[in-house]
Parts: sequence; C-alpha cells; structure tokens
Amino acid sequence: MQKSKFLNIILAATVLVMAILLSTKDDSSDKPTTTPAVKSENAQLTTSDSTMVPFKKISLGVKTEVYPKPAFVIGSYDKEGKPNIMTAAWAGICNSDPLSIAVSMRPATYSYGNLTETKSFTVNIPSAELAKYVDYAGRLSGKDVDKFKETGLTPVKGEFVNAPYVKEFPIVIECEVTAFHDLGSHRQFIGKVIDVKADEAILNADGRVNVNLLNPLIYGGGNYYETGRFLAKVGESLDEIDGKPFVPDYSQKYANDALEVIHSRKSVRHFTDQPVSKQQIETILRAGMAAPTAVNRQPWAFYVVTERETLDALGEQLPYAKMLHQAQAAIVVCGDMEKAGNLKDKGYWVQDCSAATENILLAVESIGLGAVWTASYPYDDRTKVVIKELNLPGKHVPLNVIPIGYPTGEDVPKDKWKPGNIIWR
Ligand SMILES: Cc1cc2nc3c(=O)[nH]c(=O)nc-3n(C[C@H](O)[C@H](O)[C@H](O)COP(=O)(O)O)c2cc1C
Repeated sequence: MQKSKFLNIILAATVLVMAILLSTKDDSSDKPTTTPAVKSENAQLTTSDSTMVPFKKISLGVKTEVYPKPAFVIGSYDKEGKPNIMTAAWAGICNSDPLSIAVSMRPATYSYGNLTETKSFTVNIPSAELAKYVDYAGRLSGKDVDKFKETGLTPVKGEFVNAPYVKEFPIVIECEVTAFHDLGSHRQFIGKVIDVKADEAILNADGRVNVNLLNPLIYGGGNYYETGRFLAKVGESLDEIDGKPFVPDYSQKYANDALEVIHSRKSVRHFTDQPVSKQQIETILRAGMAAPTAVNRQPWAFYVVTERETLDALGEQLPYAKMLHQAQAAIVVCGDMEKAGNLKDKGYWVQDCSAATENILLAVESIGLGAVWTASYPYDDRTKVVIKELNLPGKHVPLNVIPIGYPTGEDVPKDKWKPGNIIWR
C-alpha cells in the first residue's frame, strides 16, 4: 500500500516535470508569442502562418461592442405637457410592416415615465453638427432641467402623435407606442411610425435622403463620429465579388486625414442640383493658393464661374466639360504671364498652376464636394473658348476648367497603385 502510494507520487511528479519541460520548449520556439490570454474561439481555423493576426478572435465576454450605434434623440411630453428630450443608442428599426422603431429606456429616466404615460414619442435623427445637443440630452435628466430651454432647441408639437419633435433636427419621426417589453435593465418601447419628416435641404431630386448631406451622427464606444464616404450601391457585390474588388481597396488604413482625402479623391462628373456656397469656394481657393510655386511667384489668377448661362456656354463648347451643365460652379485656373517672370521662370507656370489645381481638387474632396480637372491649355481651340466666354485679358492663360458641385455618388476613386511603376535603386 505504502509502496504503491510512493509510486503514484513518483508518476505524478514525472508527469508534472514533463509538462513543464514541454511548455518551456514551446515558449522557446521561434513562433511569435502572441497567443491571447483567452483562447481563440476559432484557433483551429487559423492558418499555419501565425502572423495572420487579423483572423484571430479574442473573446471579450459580454460587451456592447455593436457598431455603428445610433444616437437618436427621443422627444416626449410629461404628464403636464412639458416637452423633454433624451438620447438613446439602444434603438433601431425593428419591423417593416407596420414600420416600427424600438427604443430601450431605463426606468430611472424621465422619458421612461413619459412614454409609458403618453404612449407616444418622436425619434429625432441628428446630423454630426448637432452632437453637442445629443450629448447634453444624454447627460442631464428632464427631472432636473428643462432641456429645450437650456439648449435653445425648439419643441414642435407632433402633427400626428402626442409628443414633440425637435425643429432643428434634420429628420423627425413620429411614433405611437404599440407594445413594450421589460427586458431587465431596460423597457423596450415599440413605436409604430406614423410620419417621417425631413429637411428639404438634405433630399435628393427623387425625394430620398442624401446621406452625405444628412451627415448622420454615429455613436461608438463612448465617442461620437460622423459618417464616412460613400462606398458602393447595395447589390454591387453580386456583379463584382468574383475576384474583382467590390470597391477600391481599403485594406490599407490611412494614418491621417490627408491620406484619406488623397485616396478618396476621384474625378466627379455627376452632380446634384444642390448649390455650392461662396464660403465653400473660398475654402477651396485658399487651399489652391497654398500650393508651392517656383521662386514663390504665385503666377496665377482664379476665375469663379457661377452664372448658369456661362457654365452652360462653356459646357456647350468644351468637348470634355459637358458636366458643366450640371455643375453649380466652376473654377478656371489661369497662368498670369505678368507674374510668371522672366523667360526661364515663365516655363514654370504650368507646374505652379497644376500644383494649385491638385490642392483645389483635394480641398473639394475634403469638404464633401466633387470636381474634375478638364484641360484648356495647351489646346488652342479650348483656351480660345474660355478666353472668349470669360473675356480674359491677354495676360491670363486658362490651364483648366474645374466644374464643382455636390456629387451624386456615382463616381468612385480608382485604385491606381502599381508597384511596377517604382524603380528601386
Ligand atoms: C450617447 C448616449 C446614448 C444613450 N443611450 C441610452 C439608451 O439607449 N437608453 C437609456 O435608457 N439611456 C441612454 N442614455 C442615457 C440617457 O440619455 C440619460 O440617462 C438621460 O439623462 C435621460 O434623460 P431623461 O431623464 O430626461 O429622460 C444615453 C446617453 C448617451 C449620452
């Protein structure tokens, strides 16, 4: 008995020593030691190349990591008819017919009582510019403050339901509570949509909301964001998934906004009828004038054309600028031969004005507009048309005409990355 107990102890000790030796051997191998503390859920699916970290999943436990989250502002009246707003991220469309929106609220919120009482609410969809109001409505309670009064936002009595909407918000949705579910921490109110109203300024010609113009606010993990760029139309994957990129290759993440803008710039040839403001044009030209020039001569003049008649006349006569008929404005970048200096330096005006043009195109992209470089110089016929239509003085030579407007979303960037174009020495 004594002997077998001794043998068992020896056996257990041997197993333990071997286990330690084996684990030490693994550690000292040249495999990267990136194994997460929590076992990968699909460890057996990872390839032998353990550098493919992106496919390695790490369990985070039970967390609210759902992206993007909305940040809706819910309007309601209290028993006395005082309007209130509260921010809700636990919300979204939950049924198509009847169209319904679910919003979950903690019993501690003032709005919870209001919705339970009035069986009505409005969903106010914010643009990114309204982030501060969204944040405010989500930090303070209607029990303690009059949020409309404090923010200066305007409550408007719902047309169809007993709840106020916020005048300043671009989309407002009136809902009638049809059901609620007590889920635990929150009560989920189901609201049947009775009416949706949207600001005219964010609508396309077909009456649908233009997401770029709306610029909806996104809530994600303690921060607010605005929406990214247009990627592709729904359904395009069916045509193009086979080997071809669905959209330009975004696998590369850009380190800063400047690179994002450079890579998302595209030649935009389709515009909506949304006007472009003087302030936007000035922002664009400020970027143009920031370009480098030979011996800092800045040998340029920028003509801004917004008259429909002139845009159309140019569009009629310039063979590759037909989109001027749709564009809301055009910038004509001209070389100024008086500023261009002596003969030797004069040769640089094309480079200088080209650098300004690229800055202009990038600035256009960065503020959500679209543009395309249509050449004038060195084509005699085209430069003559521009000189005639704009009545240019002899010293101004038009390098190009850049139609500008709000993009319809049809034009997308091209992936022009070709490693073969680089000669490494
Ligand atoms: C971005 C954000 C999202 C929020 N989402 C919710 C939510 O979905 N449900 C909820 O009960 N509270 C949510 N809150 C907290 C409420 O908005 C907050 O408690 C508010 O003060 C309630 O207002 P009230 O008491 O006037 O109704 C959120 C707050 C923020 C800032």
